[in-house]
Amino acid sequence: MTRENWGTRVGFILAAIGSAVGLGNIWRFPGVAYENGGGAFMVPYLVALVTAGIPLLIMEFTIGRKYKGSAPVAFRRLNKNAEVIGWWQVAISIVIAVYYAAIIAWAGWYAFFALDQRWGDDPEAFLFVDFLQAGDMYDFGTWLPGLGTVMIVIWAATLLVIGLGVKKGIELTAKIAIPLLAVMFGVLVVQALTLEGAEVGLNAFFRPDWELIWSTPSVWLAAYGQIFFSLSVGFGIMVTYASYLKKKSDITTSALTVGFANSSFELLAGIGVFSVLGFMAVQSGTAVEDQVSAGIGLAFVAFPAIISTLPTLPGLFGVLFFGSLVIAGWTSLISIVQVPVAAFEDRFGWSRGLSTAILGGLMAVVSIGLLPTVNGIMLLDVSDEFINKYGIAVAALVSIVAVVWVAWKWKELRDNANATSTFRVGPIWVVFLGVITPIMLTVILFYNIRDLLTADPSDPEDPQATYNLYQSFGWSVALGAVAFGIIMALILRRRDVPEIPSEEEEAIREEVGQ
Ligand code: ALA
Repeated sequence: MTRENWGTRVGFILAAIGSAVGLGNIWRFPGVAYENGGGAFMVPYLVALVTAGIPLLIMEFTIGRKYKGSAPVAFRRLNKNAEVIGWWQVAISIVIAVYYAAIIAWAGWYAFFALDQRWGDDPEAFLFVDFLQAGDMYDFGTWLPGLGTVMIVIWAATLLVIGLGVKKGIELTAKIAIPLLAVMFGVLVVQALTLEGAEVGLNAFFRPDWELIWSTPSVWLAAYGQIFFSLSVGFGIMVTYASYLKKKSDITTSALTVGFANSSFELLAGIGVFSVLGFMAVQSGTAVEDQVSAGIGLAFVAFPAIISTLPTLPGLFGVLFFGSLVIAGWTSLISIVQVPVAAFEDRFGWSRGLSTAILGGLMAVVSIGLLPTVNGIMLLDVSDEFINKYGIAVAALVSIVAVVWVAWKWKELRDNANATSTFRVGPIWVVFLGVITPIMLTVILFYNIRDLLTADPSDPEDPQATYNLYQSFGWSVALGAVAFGIIMALILRRRDVPEIPSEEEEAIREEVGQ
């Protein structure tokens, strides 16, 4: 069976940017940054980007291209015992895809609501009572047809693109969506910056809280978690995407381009969002702090309230904001779903169509069945927190230790990347990847897990029942992903993977243009 390739280098880079720039940049980053020290968050953020994010991106690109396989196959070819890491990453992607699609669906509805500011005077009540009908957390039965229908459309579009393949589906979509997103978001940020009070918001965003970043380990975990989620590293995406690269493609310059584009977009999102919050603070005579909440609240409560008060073209602003969320989120969802689809395709020899139908179909059914329900928001919130902090960050740590220290592949990977790249990586890459990142992640995770396990459940704000459900569901999701990885690797232990296609086969394929 021949393996597909990207049509062009630009196509690959745009697809990788499409994966990286997502809900993490617009929906999550501004709130996370603000909650974790504002301007001072830039310190852990940049440390995580430079010492962990980019080096890991280079590692994943190199593994994908060298071993020519989706995560489980590539890790198995790297070392027979490493297949478990690939399947663990597949499980993480499945969990993320299931809830990620729901946020895109909310944004889709909100782009429509924005036209006449349907949320009225109380966007919070509108979100929780009218729109999500959030209720009893043990009620898994009530399905919301409006939200469910949009999710069906999103899943159908995603599976269609994946079914069309790497070149005709994913690459073509990225080539259209990413320039469109850049223009839409650019207009949005310019409109935000011209609002009265924008500078007040920006001051709040960039004002550092040094005390917080030096005294709170969770700020550092938030930074590493944000970088990994945002760059799409640690859960199999970039290994899978790079497996469709041709042997001679540049690795390091592409990784730097993707990393730079992603962080620029993230920063731009922070600037845009805080300019708008500054406007609202000035209008209402309150502090910027009072306008901010993380994640869901920021995008779906604070923003609608602000949109309603904009002096000019509020509808346009709302459509641009929520439309950007939909486009950015959708190109990322495609990449997340591609991880399990490609894994089953490669490992079991299934055709793309079959794998898309079975895996994609299963994910779609779970996602569409569970999320548009009255307690979908709780499932989303807990899964997001646990799979990021105790899924992606731990999986990234394990993959780095396994590749660099246990399999001792850093030299081979470094030489492989350098052989075809204009920018060559040296000892710094190895030190960042193999020494600094594992030490930082181990220390940070240790403190966080300790804090989490010793948290006080008698807090009146956090009643025991919620706490128990939250903890047990969260840990089941994070540990369930590990269990899935172990089970799949055990089942497949005796089943070898085919040889990596040789240079000759690859050359012939390139010649015939496949
Ligand atoms: N990288 C994607 C995001 O930032 C998953 O949302």
